[in-house]
Amino acid sequence: MLSTKLRNQTCGHLRAEHVGQTVTLCGWVHAMRDFGGAKFMVLRDRYGITQVTIGPESPEATRQVAEDLKDEWVVTVTGKVIARPDGQSNPDMATGEIEVIAESLEVLNPSETPPFTPSQVEELPNEDMRLKYRYIDLRRQPMQDSLILRHRIIKAMRDYFDEQQFIEVETPILGRSTPEGARDYLVPSRVHSGEFYALPQSPQIYKQIMMIAGYDRYIQVARCFRDEDLRADRQPEFTQLDMEMSFVETDDVLGMIDGLMKHLAKTILNIDLQIPLPRMTYDEAMQRYGHDAPDLRFGMELIDCTDLAGKCEFRVFRSVADAGNFVRAINAKGVAGDFSRKRISQLETYVKEDFGAKGLAWMRVEEDGAFGGPIAKNFSAELLEEFRDRLDAVPGDLVLFIADTWEVSCKALNGLRKRLGAELELYDPKDMNFSWIVEFPMFDYDEEQNGWNAMHHPFTAPRDQDLANLEKAPGEARAKAYDLVINGYEAGGGTIRIHDNEVQQMVFGLLGLDEATARDRFGFLLDALQFGAPPHGGIALGVDRVAMIFGGLDNIRDCIAFPKTQRAMDLMTGAPSPVDEVQLDELHIGLKAGEKEPESE
Ligand code: AMO
Ligand code: AMP
Repeated sequence: MLSTKLRNQTCGHLRAEHVGQTVTLCGWVHAMRDFGGAKFMVLRDRYGITQVTIGPESPEATRQVAEDLKDEWVVTVTGKVIARPDGQSNPDMATGEIEVIAESLEVLNPSETPPFTPSQVEELPNEDMRLKYRYIDLRRQPMQDSLILRHRIIKAMRDYFDEQQFIEVETPILGRSTPEGARDYLVPSRVHSGEFYALPQSPQIYKQIMMIAGYDRYIQVARCFRDEDLRADRQPEFTQLDMEMSFVETDDVLGMIDGLMKHLAKTILNIDLQIPLPRMTYDEAMQRYGHDAPDLRFGMELIDCTDLAGKCEFRVFRSVADAGNFVRAINAKGVAGDFSRKRISQLETYVKEDFGAKGLAWMRVEEDGAFGGPIAKNFSAELLEEFRDRLDAVPGDLVLFIADTWEVSCKALNGLRKRLGAELELYDPKDMNFSWIVEFPMFDYDEEQNGWNAMHHPFTAPRDQDLANLEKAPGEARAKAYDLVINGYEAGGGTIRIHDNEVQQMVFGLLGLDEATARDRFGFLLDALQFGAPPHGGIALGVDRVAMIFGGLDNIRDCIAFPKTQRAMDLMTGAPSPVDEVQLDELHIGLKAGEKEPESE
């Protein structure tokens, strides 16, 4: 199947059983080694590497060609497969039992000296170099592995949903703004002066319309675009496995994705995943972990000590408790001996600089059970016993406290917990933990704009029991919303949608969208909701994130063929780039004075 006019075998295929055959291989020179009379060439293609020997048995012309070969030249070689001499087979190499004795050798294309080579495994060049010469980087085995893994994940997803009667529908890339809360990438219209398309932040509105159109079970491997600040797990352009179903409640969507995760875990990682996956409410996650995507591979839960703090004389704790804020702690078990004051003060700097905490108070439990550390003296013996019970503190424990608002205590303790979990190796990085966080708040309050924002998006349905009180207490209302969390990453998120026009209008009202604005932005959806909308809901999984997590990578760029940098640039093609005046004129666009001039032709 893989044989072509130019080759009849690949570099990953040959084994002892092929000894005696004459084969023709094509590929890149991965390495050349010179052993006096003979040259060894390691030839590489997508399927693996094969050792080719160009020695005294090879014709003179062939030996001549081998003289010039350099790394990454593209060559074709024909020769006989022989067994490697006793003791020289290489068990670490799939083709390590054999070698090919070159009869003919031809250079298909020489290469410039590459800035780095795919055989260079120890010291990778810096990432900018890898991105600029992406075609060389993509030749490296780990990059190949992760792109192949990604392909297998997408295929397994499509296979699963196909089995379940879903159909894949492509939705437009040039469209109207979709409300996922990021900035849009805009595309100016040439035909309609001064008007713009927005690239989709997600196919959200189209997939809801597909439900109203009666398609019942939709999926799409969908490219999404969001102009937001980038992090290690975010790209401006990324891929979702987007799905939507009709006549469903939360349990149906979660059950469908449970099945998908079981299928993926089995086909990709050969893990037998127990389903249904565990569920935890958002409120519980924030209380126990301080984050809505907690890494549940280890414990070290947050412990609320506000009531105890309210009884003490320690100024820092007392004032925070009296002000209605929170004193919460984590107990780093058994590590007190390993944490010098210097190491603790590094943690203090971390919580101050990264999360705006005001300090980091700590106590340790000495061998004899007494509490030590500078703040311990502020508590009565009786109160210390209450702390001991609450914190489950035993000799050797180090307890770290943050006294602050709910938000800061969540962020700082979540940061500490994640950092210590990794530093103290509290989990096996190969472990996989899947869980659901459910019942997110409908809204969060935006202090700057003095109003409510949709926590997921404005089409999210409130829980039935929260509907009556929605307008009176928007902050209390919880949504039929769910996130899939894998190893502390939000791998997917979705909701049951509002299919009732009145409820939708009420939610728009709470979000400060008056009728005219709502009509202007989503008029087509509001209209469609009036023409027989079934109850529906869905979810989108971040394909890049799933590939990153399944591949054990810590950077999303390593499972994307052509990713963008943190500054949203493509270093290989040089995008974004200035355009010439003619193009701008056609698009009815003039650049503001002081901004970068377009390149003239
Ligand atoms: P949401 O905005 O939660 O939901 O996105 C779904 C999933 O997409 C992934 N994701 C990203 N991956 C890489 N880079 C990014 N910048 C990025 N942003 C999001 C995450 C996330 O969980 N329309 C809704 C889904 C729905 O309600 O059905 C949506 O887009 O893994
Ligand atoms: P101070 O009395 O301000 O020197 O603080 C005494 C100890 O409490 C120091 O270790 C501070 O880091 C810590 N601390 C100060 N403010 C807070 C806070 N809001 N939360 C936790 N610890 C704090």
